[in-house]
Amino acid sequence: MRIGVLGTGTVGRKIATKLVGLGHEVMLGSRSADNPTAAEWVASTGPGASQGTFADAAAHGELVFNCTPGPVSLEAIASVPSASLAGKTLVDVSNSLDLSSGFPVVVLSPTDSVAEQIQRAVAEAHVVKALNTVNNEVMVDPGRVPGEHDLFVCGDDAAAKAEVVELLESFGWPKERIRDLGDVTGARALEAYLVLWLRLRGLVGSGDVNIRVVS
Ligand SMILES: NC(=O)c1ccc[n+]([C@@H]2O[C@H](COP(=O)([O-])OP(=O)(O)OC[C@H]3O[C@@H](n4cnc5c(N)ncnc54)[C@H](OP(=O)(O)O)[C@@H]3O)[C@@H](O)[C@H]2O)c1
Repeated sequence: MRIGVLGTGTVGRKIATKLVGLGHEVMLGSRSADNPTAAEWVASTGPGASQGTFADAAAHGELVFNCTPGPVSLEAIASVPSASLAGKTLVDVSNSLDLSSGFPVVVLSPTDSVAEQIQRAVAEAHVVKALNTVNNEVMVDPGRVPGEHDLFVCGDDAAAKAEVVELLESFGWPKERIRDLGDVTGARALEAYLVLWLRLRGLVGSGDVNIRVVS
């Protein structure tokens, strides 16, 4: 599959590397076509890896990941012609953090989320929120956390969610541990969860931490 990954940071590169390893053709997208971090990633990853602008990566992908910071995700996506995302699954991995104080502060609205903002901005795309509740290493290697633990998805389009679940299974997440929280407004909960995640990371002293839902 051809996949576009918007974002050259730790998360974008971690997901992109996993996808190339699984045999996908991945383009890493940036504000500039010649971003040096992306160039280094392409050189070290080899066949299947390429780089371009956010618009290039979105056009390349049959499915697209948003791996940009939540506060600037709309800015990144605004540089992509909406036709390049029409009908495509757009996996939103972002969290909305203000890092200006030196500590991560989760910026939230009780009635909105980054995923919903993206869905409103690109109505033709099928936004699926996923993976933002775990550390980037755990995203692509859930076995780093011992035992059974859960990942969440939400979005308005059932077929897009099914496509993302299949991709997450290929990352190593058991299907029964991928919990569907319903429509895209579920992203409010998933983005708010980061407040707890940051405390859990402090509690266990590691990013290799996750939760399991029991009932
Ligand atoms: N770190 C984790 O383990 C983790 C876990 C869960 C979720 N997340 C979320 O995943 C996302 C990616 O995290 P990260 O640490 O990899 O991100 P990051 O390094 O902070 O983001 C880098 C990307 O953001 C783009 N960017 C920065 N400012 C921009 C602007 N004003 N307009 C448009 N694009 C801009 C950069 O563009 P250039 O390429 O042009 O520089 C780059 O592609 C974040 O939303 C984060 O909260 C992270």
